Amino acid sequence: MSKTAKLIFEGKTYELPVIEGTRDEKALDVSSLRSATGLITFDPGYVSTGSCKSSITFLDGEKGILLYRGIPIETLAEKSHFIETAYLLIYGHLPNRKEMDYFSYHVTRHSMLHESIKNFYDGFPSNPHPMAVCSAVVGALGTFYQDQLNVLDEREIEISIHRLMAKLPTIAAYSYKKSIGQALPYPDNSLSYTANFLKMMFSNPCEEYQVDPTVAKILNILLILHADHEQNCSTSAVRLVGSSRCNLYASVSAGIYALWGPLHGGANQAVIEMLQKIIEDGGGVKKFIDKAKDPNDPFRLVGFGHRVYKNFDPRSKIIKNMAHEILGELNVKESLSKIVKSNIDDELEKLNIEESLFDVALELEEIALKDDYFIERKLYPNVDFYSGIIYQALGIPVNMFPVMFAMGRLPGWIAQWKESQADEDFKIGRPRQIYTGNASAEYIPMEERK
Ligand code: SDX
Repeated sequence: MSKTAKLIFEGKTYELPVIEGTRDEKALDVSSLRSATGLITFDPGYVSTGSCKSSITFLDGEKGILLYRGIPIETLAEKSHFIETAYLLIYGHLPNRKEMDYFSYHVTRHSMLHESIKNFYDGFPSNPHPMAVCSAVVGALGTFYQDQLNVLDEREIEISIHRLMAKLPTIAAYSYKKSIGQALPYPDNSLSYTANFLKMMFSNPCEEYQVDPTVAKILNILLILHADHEQNCSTSAVRLVGSSRCNLYASVSAGIYALWGPLHGGANQAVIEMLQKIIEDGGGVKKFIDKAKDPNDPFRLVGFGHRVYKNFDPRSKIIKNMAHEILGELNVKESLSKIVKSNIDDELEKLNIEESLFDVALELEEIALKDDYFIERKLYPNVDFYSGIIYQALGIPVNMFPVMFAMGRLPGWIAQWKESQADEDFKIGRPRQIYTGNASAEYIPMEERK
């Protein structure tokens, strides 16, 4: 028996259908509300509004649960690898051996960029933010495949997926290499996805380069943890742009820009900058917690809070444990000496910086989680709170942290875009509004204006 909800408005009673998801979430279906009642809904930031039905990712913010196609994130982080998880999200099932080999082969084979794309990098100023570069280059990819952008053609969608998955690490690495004046390396198709990215980032043409398998493994897990997160800001941007039947490259380009914001994927960069500011300020953690609580102070504790999680973000728990391992047990000095050509001569000094950032993060978390302001508002560390500490320890430059998030989120954006294009309820996204401007106004000639 399908459920309904009654709405009484201006003396009339309306029955609206209630729809249910497979994990018992319920939604009031208001698609007929305006035609039946003349009312629209009003929900800034879509706090209580579902934009679609989706079978890709499930979050339970109260219990801190995250499932990709029903599989717990903890299991995938332990047992899967990023390309397998990408396949799971995009195609809806774990690949068999043949499917995995086919997908891996094509994602590897398309890793090179058209040579003329290198000219794009010459056109940017010397130190562009890599998110702007990645979004611009991803959006422009479509100009190289103009005859394969039909969003209703299975084969053209498939090859766009292969190209995007394969090329984003190259595009990202190029944005870093260009910023430090080094040659743009070619991908190495003999390496795994993350090893190839690390080699493009940290190798140079003058010497042999061996990827540290520990670092490649850590990066694999981080990419899995960031791979999808249902209808977050950037995914909603990808879906909305795709809802005009716009191609995958342009839709993902919009997603990269949306992710860049400090309230979203840009938070991992902002967390490190905040921790560094706390260390440099010398005033201690409590001073900044008080600032975050002060309604008159715009300062917020970046890396804390989440629209959905009102409990621990399961990803931040895994990342926090990884950070402990990397800065503690694992011999990070050895792996750092292999990958980091940082401008900090003494790796120990660098290690000390990592540890002090981590120590401040741990102290911040400990104090905040006991503070009523954060408890009442259910503000917990989110995925961005610890991830930057690991990226830094791996030698990734701070302004590349959001790019790492984008590389991880790419299969999620692709999966959500692909699902939206095939949605039986497909419609172009076009929200309504409540108008609050002039009820009417006259045109006043220039000479009469004040
Ligand atoms: C990501 O949506 C996703 O799934 C995102 C993501 C993904 O995988 O795609 O999980 C990735 O974007 C994680 C979030 C990264 N952003 C940050 O860490 C930035 C800091 N956090 C906040 O700005 C905030 O918590 C948001 C943006 C994440 C969520 O904002 P909401 O849901 O709109 O909540 P809100 O701003 O209405 O805050 C509710 C209350 C407010 O207090 P009151 O006005 O009620 O007194 O909590 C306060 C806020 O002022 N608050 C904070 C705070 N976050 C919220 N106060 C201090 N520090 C903070 N970080």
